[in-house]
Amino acid sequence: KALVAIVPAAGVGKRMLSACPKQYLQLDGLTILEHTVNRLLSVDDIQHVVIVISPQDGYFNDTGLANHPDVTTVSGGKERVDSVLAGLKAVDSARYPWVLVHDAARPCVPKEDINALISRCRETGDGGLLAYQVRDTMKRGDASGQVLETVEREALWHALTPQMYPAAQLQTAIEKALEHNIPITDESSAMEYVNHTSVLVAGSSENLKITRPDDLAMAEFILIKQQE
Ligand code: CTP
Ligand code: MG
Repeated sequence: KALVAIVPAAGVGKRMLSACPKQYLQLDGLTILEHTVNRLLSVDDIQHVVIVISPQDGYFNDTGLANHPDVTTVSGGKERVDSVLAGLKAVDSARYPWVLVHDAARPCVPKEDINALISRCRETGDGGLLAYQVRDTMKRGDASGQVLETVEREALWHALTPQMYPAAQLQTAIEKALEHNIPITDESSAMEYVNHTSVLVAGSSENLKITRPDDLAMAEFILIKQQE
């Protein structure tokens, strides 16, 4: 069955310190947003992408995604979670019972990882997310920077996107969490709040979220390497 992907792209990219929002910076000849959306649309099961852009956006119409037949846009909100909720409201959950949510700022997600997530979620019937296990020894520290303890590493994962859930249940979970002022930084945290099962699907650490200026060169290196 066909899938829809929601791409939150309504952030300002404060930590990037660039003149335009980071999703509109160019890497290897295309904007970060174009790389991300092209990659999602290259997945056989993904039929449509809903891009959530800022109501003040002045860049989207100059990208190759404007007027794309498999792309629609909606206006985002103040926080990422508000933008994801706006995207979910634009999805017909009868036509698309399952959605993937994927950050615009993660153009390097390997296509095989997206496919692995989709097949695991279909197998289990539960939602899930791409993630990778932490590699460094992890410490808990106090406010003054003193070590309190070493945290067991085996249980710790970096949460990535895409994250894949039943559309209607994800929307309800986010609405409930927002109502109770629960901090929601990814889809999984909203589903955890309503005690919905999520599966961690091992993905590549190449799937970095472009956040700070340093990340641009690394992302471009990965994108070019992936074309080989
Ligand atoms: N995002 C969004 N709506 C918001 C905030 C963020 O759609 N109100 C999107 C961003 O465009 C990005 C993704 O969510 O694709 C992940 O957020 P993040 O990396 O934090 O991007 P920004 O919020 O733009 O960056 P910063 O936090 O540095 O301002
Ligand atoms: Mg942010």
